[in-house]
Amino acid sequence: MTTKNPFPTVEYISPEYFCDRAEEQKKINEAITNQRNMTLVSRRRLGKTALIKHCFQLLNEKEPYSLHYFDIYATQNLNDFINLLSTSLVGYFESKPERTVNKLIQLLGKFRPRLSFDELSGMPFIELTLQSEADTHQSLEAIFEYLSQQKKHIVIAIDEFQQIINYPEKNVEAILRTHLQNCPNLTMIFSGSNKRMITSIFSDYARPFYQSSSFLFLQKIDNKIYADFIKHHFQKAGRHITNKSIDYIFEWTLGHTYYVQEFCNRLFASGNTNIEPHQCKHIAEQIIKERDPLYAMFRNILTKSQFKLLQAIAHELAVKQPNASAFIKSHKLVAPSTVNRALTALVEKDLIDYDNDEYSLNDIFLMRWLQRQP
Ligand SMILES: Nc1ncnc2c1ncn2[C@@H]1O[C@H](COP(=O)(O)OP(=O)(O)OP(=O)(O)O)[C@@H](O)[C@H]1O
Ligand SMILES: [Mg+2]
Repeated sequence: MTTKNPFPTVEYISPEYFCDRAEEQKKINEAITNQRNMTLVSRRRLGKTALIKHCFQLLNEKEPYSLHYFDIYATQNLNDFINLLSTSLVGYFESKPERTVNKLIQLLGKFRPRLSFDELSGMPFIELTLQSEADTHQSLEAIFEYLSQQKKHIVIAIDEFQQIINYPEKNVEAILRTHLQNCPNLTMIFSGSNKRMITSIFSDYARPFYQSSSFLFLQKIDNKIYADFIKHHFQKAGRHITNKSIDYIFEWTLGHTYYVQEFCNRLFASGNTNIEPHQCKHIAEQIIKERDPLYAMFRNILTKSQFKLLQAIAHELAVKQPNASAFIKSHKLVAPSTVNRALTALVEKDLIDYDNDEYSLNDIFLMRWLQRQP
């Protein structure tokens, strides 16, 4: 039998394969048990979704909670949102006595709910027939009416919540806020990676969700704790990883969760029993080489000035003022106005992130690839 790789790179598995986040878990848990809404914010791939699933997993054993998670990244409008919400609510009750399923389906009967299967994942989902604005409102009303009648404390986590800003309908925020507010047994966990968009939903005075949630800004996992976690999992499999190797991994991935996980997953898969830095170097080479065809496309997708700026930022790891003359000069960029335009485009394309007063690349592997390009 092959040993399970202890470094998941796609999904949360279980507490055993989840490193730390004890403080954050405590804060989320406290918010839930005290019925306060919370919004989790971090850069891409730092571990928001996994943290929510981890908290839910730990809460799951406790009876009074009914926990629901859904990710609205792929939704385009309010009707998509309602379909996903219904799916996640019914999904929860699937393993419960059938009458509970029937109750929500019955309440939504007017909207002729159909069970479909996602083409890619094969997962079942519920699709309501919502033909007018009135249908949309009434279906939401039915769902929240149903939720408020439940005896359990309901927790709904909506991942990539900033997506609602892109919905074409008017007043989406106001509509959702009203329904959520009228459901006293409901606590919300919102999450998102677009810091500017997600914080504006909750901190702009004029917006419906103003101050309706506290924030939790997720940072990188502490290196020392992560190092112990990595060592522990290699040791458990009867293998050894040197401290120098771990230093190499953190330096190369900047300690960014997904990239550390991917790196360790590869190292583990290599089957080496005593891991030294030269093996880590080999993994780094492999990662870059594999992605070469994909990353090379950026030369065509981006304008020359965008590519040059991206590469310049990659060389520096992070830059406070990309339009400062010293930076422009040392990287042979053109002019501040060109840099500003390129910067805006790169942020819009999600290639660059602005966090802690600095610009840096979202994809650490792309950053390493760019550093090697002429
Ligand atoms: N504390 C952790 N310990 C171990 N693995 C983790 C931890 N946090 C996240 N991961 C793993 O790292 C990967 C990225 O995490 P996740 O998808 O949760 O990030 P995210 O912030 O939600 O990303 P995105 O912004 O793209 O939605 C996943 O494979 C996840 O299982
Ligand atoms: Mg996520």
